Amino acid sequence: MIETISKPVITLSHANQENPAYVFGRDVSAGLNSSPKRLSSVYFYDGKGSRIFEQICDLDEYYLTRKETEILRKSAHDIIGSLQHNTHLIELGSGSSTKTRILLEAALAQFTRTRYSPIDVSSEMLTKSVNELSRRYPQLQIEAVADLYEKGLENILRSEDTPVCIMWLGSSIGNLSRQEASEFLLHVRSDLDADDSVLLGIDLRKDASILEPAYDDAAGVTAAFNLNLLDRINREVGGHFRTEKFHHQAVYNVVEGRIEMYLVSEIDQEVRIDKLDTNIHLNKNEKILTEYSYKYSQSEIINLAHSSGFQLQKQWLDESGWFSLNYFKTK
Ligand code: AVI
Repeated sequence: MIETISKPVITLSHANQENPAYVFGRDVSAGLNSSPKRLSSVYFYDGKGSRIFEQICDLDEYYLTRKETEILRKSAHDIIGSLQHNTHLIELGSGSSTKTRILLEAALAQFTRTRYSPIDVSSEMLTKSVNELSRRYPQLQIEAVADLYEKGLENILRSEDTPVCIMWLGSSIGNLSRQEASEFLLHVRSDLDADDSVLLGIDLRKDASILEPAYDDAAGVTAAFNLNLLDRINREVGGHFRTEKFHHQAVYNVVEGRIEMYLVSEIDQEVRIDKLDTNIHLNKNEKILTEYSYKYSQSEIINLAHSSGFQLQKQWLDESGWFSLNYFKTK
């Protein structure tokens, strides 16, 4: 038998993107000069933040990664079996992790041809994970795209006529508001055909006694992750934040069904940010909102699917019913 070994293709298509350093400064200035103060959670993931996030995923308290992996280990064959034969797998976020590998292995076992396209803004991360995957799975056809999710998807789908499944794992959709999540999926839907689908990892609503420690662990890893935002401002735009004058806070808002993360000022203070030519005043106990992490009930998942032009066709849960993998088909 002749084996086909394909070389991975990585397309860098950051066309028309604004200068990231400029956008960061502009967002920090707007967020810290607004009331209440806020910083976007997208800025957690610089080199240091991404490394801390990997540590979070290994924490006992942060059940999300463990539970999603449990579902994939148990149901990868069923998940892949739910897709049309040889469906092109597209992943939002670069899939270097064990989680993606579980699905890819199931696809390699069931499909005669497995195509995988990770999309990630970080070309560095993407190249690293693509090289690793192609070394591990020579039969896998990898066509990766370094770009924003929407642009990367348009780029791949423009020339695609086989069915695709867009995978978005890790409950990353939870970092969008419910409205933004629905709008994002609606946009994705507009690029899809009748045979296409979405596979979404979504964290479920549960008791605050489980949720709050997941976002405020005993070892202080999540606190370091949150405080790194201030360090990043210091490093990149000449901020003078003293991180020891802030503390991390994570609270579960039951009504909204979301974890809210804050950096709380321990004193009255004035902080200069040189490159933004601004001074930020913080009162004692004033909070900077840094992240929402939305949790979903079953009916909220069904509504999310409906409001964005999909229907929930199948769902897989872990043993304790804390986390869900959801297969949305176009309707
Ligand atoms: C990336 N995202 C799904 C994580 C979450 O659970 O919302 C980010 C995170 N923030 C604190 N811990 C993990």
